[in-house]
Amino acid sequence: MTGNESEQLALPLPRHVAIIMDGNGRWAERQGKRRTAGHRAGAESVRRAITFARRNGIEALTLFAFSSENWQRPAQEVNVLMELFMTVLRREVPELAANDIRLRVIGDVSGFSTRLQRRIREAERATENNTALTLNIAANYGGRWDIAQAAQKLGKEVAAGRLQPEKINESALAQHMCLADGPEPDLLIRTGGDIRISNFLLWQLAYAELYFTDVLWPDFDEMTFAAAVDSYVRRERRFGLTSAQIQQLAGSGPLQEE
Ligand code: IPE
Ligand code: IPE
Ligand code: MG
Repeated sequence: MTGNESEQLALPLPRHVAIIMDGNGRWAERQGKRRTAGHRAGAESVRRAITFARRNGIEALTLFAFSSENWQRPAQEVNVLMELFMTVLRREVPELAANDIRLRVIGDVSGFSTRLQRRIREAERATENNTALTLNIAANYGGRWDIAQAAQKLGKEVAAGRLQPEKINESALAQHMCLADGPEPDLLIRTGGDIRISNFLLWQLAYAELYFTDVLWPDFDEMTFAAAVDSYVRRERRFGLTSAQIQQLAGSGPLQEE
């Protein structure tokens, strides 16, 4: 990525990058600060990540901001996170709009205050016609919740007589999951050193390339993002096929008729 390396190699960049933004609390604690100082610093990394994605022609960026499990944190920390969410939405929307970025929030927004819900709707509406980059913020999001809400929608269609139960298959479910209208995540980045998914996009990550880094989210910058993309472009995504088949599909290998 740095110095247009991937362009020279003509390797396809990820169309959709998802990020588990982790490590804010530890970043702050290491400096003797309150955890919430880490969240504030993390908001700057969000800006950097958006700028990087926009500049590099990434189509969709999905950021895990608040999980359905994060409500269990101390009330004071949750309150600060909600206030930060409000502030960032107000502050950043004009810049998103100016940069042709569409903002969407995925997750159970009904769990937020009516004030925050209104702010979310306004931000989505103000940017809904933008096309250069789709920015999805996962807030009060859980991968299991996502699967359950999709199942519930299908159940309602069955109950209304519009859908036969036999028609419930992967594709029907996929159409009702969050982010169904865009490409699946190609690359998942998790900062903060832990190697787990923490109930993020369980369904959508089925074939994503995973990239874990010890960098704490407030320290995340263009270099970290570029290193993740560099790692991604060097991988062979096989989707269950053999390497020979993949090379054949890419037009770079000999035909391997059995
Ligand atoms: C990620 O950082 C932000 C949220 C989960 C809201 P953490 O707050 O989880 O930071 P650590 O993992 O405790 O360092
Ligand atoms: C995942 O981080 C959620 C977000 C980044 C918003 P957590 O810090 O909540 O994950 P666990 O608890 O370490 O698995
Ligand atoms: Mg964490």
